[in-house]
Amino acid sequence: MPAIAIIGAQWGDEGKGKATDLLGSRVDHVVKFNGGNNAGHTVVIGQPDGTSEKYALHLLPSGILSPNCTPVIGNGVVVDIDVLFEEIDGLEARGVDTSKLKISANAHVIASYNRALDKVTERFLGSRRLGTTGRGIGPTYADKMNRIGIRIQDLFDEKILTAKVTGALELKNQVLTKVYNRRAAEVEEIVAELLTHAERLRPMVCDTGLYLNQALDNGDIVLLEAGQATLLDVDHGTYPFVTSSSATSAGACTGSGIPPMRLDQVIGIVKAYTTRVGEGPFPTELFDESGEHLRTVGAEFGTTTGRPRRCGWYDAVIARYAARVNGVTDFVLTKLDVLTGLEQIPVCVAYDVKGVRHDEMPVNQSDFHHAVPILEYFPGWTEDISECRTFDELPANARSYVEAVEKISGSRISVIGVGPSRAATIVRHELL
Ligand code: IMP
Repeated sequence: MPAIAIIGAQWGDEGKGKATDLLGSRVDHVVKFNGGNNAGHTVVIGQPDGTSEKYALHLLPSGILSPNCTPVIGNGVVVDIDVLFEEIDGLEARGVDTSKLKISANAHVIASYNRALDKVTERFLGSRRLGTTGRGIGPTYADKMNRIGIRIQDLFDEKILTAKVTGALELKNQVLTKVYNRRAAEVEEIVAELLTHAERLRPMVCDTGLYLNQALDNGDIVLLEAGQATLLDVDHGTYPFVTSSSATSAGACTGSGIPPMRLDQVIGIVKAYTTRVGEGPFPTELFDESGEHLRTVGAEFGTTTGRPRRCGWYDAVIARYAARVNGVTDFVLTKLDVLTGLEQIPVCVAYDVKGVRHDEMPVNQSDFHHAVPILEYFPGWTEDISECRTFDELPANARSYVEAVEKISGSRISVIGVGPSRAATIVRHELL
């Protein structure tokens, strides 16, 4: 039965966790298919006593918070095992049952030498740095492609693990010592580190591709949850200022073992404005008090790194691009409430690149670096919209803004977020 992908349609941090969580009670399995603990979902869940609990997840799929859901870490993910157990222990301490978690035997492991290499490479690059999260993501995916990676299944055979670590370090230590003037990593130390949690990990590990396809055969609903986002995808993003994995709907298939024809629905998450962390081009970026307004009101600070996010207006060119690349069937527009109080709201409808209008993403990287947004202005609203639960309850100007954005973004806007809590949501078209 349905396999549904949720992807970020901008540069990440669009509020995917909330959308996943919204569907969580109706889906049977939630799969993280790419990335690692570079991601950050914040999920706020209202409690029966009226208070709310906030959860910040980095590695675990946000479906872990829904009791009836089986969370799955797919083969496309890179796993930092210490972080995995820190996160599991943190949730267990707050009463969240994590015992159903399944992890692919083929997922790759982030070894400490790759965390070291990530950080040292960024320092070495200086002004050419990418602004990575420093979690070892890029070097671990590079090892996967170079076929010198360590996989989860390797942790259950010490002999094989030692042979693989020895092979990897033959190359890595040359780079660490000769290029970066760092200490060489010791095989025994790395093997011991990687084996620390092996026995705790063992019961969670399986062939997740087989498990998920059988689940679909049985009529279960599978939700595939992307880390990062379309414009950070290694193929379709603003390369080289991207992450090292496939964050688009096609990546949902390679990263989980579910074939493309089994994917029924692709939900794209877009913020009512745009944010980005790290380096790289961002045509609608704001450097004035409007940007500060978005950052402060929208609490735009990284869940993973705490870094202030760069903020800008909604960019319909990238939304259209994301709709096309992913085959978006429904958009979820998040954080509409953050725009409340602005007199007028600009939206980027196209770019001007050296005097030439571009309605679609420029092909050439340097053209994108020079893109100047062509803005259209929509009247704002002052009413508090955080209690609105139907589209009709929104002020007329907020409705017009949503309708205008929908027209130019390449797919319908089915859900609107009007506040951080799970309940602060307007559903125009049911997602399931
Ligand atoms: P990496 O994924 O740590 O290699 O970082 C590569 C780029 O992706 C950097 O610009 C990061 O800031 C960005 N990035 C990685 N993960 C996220 C995320 O979850 N949200 C937003 N940006 C991210």
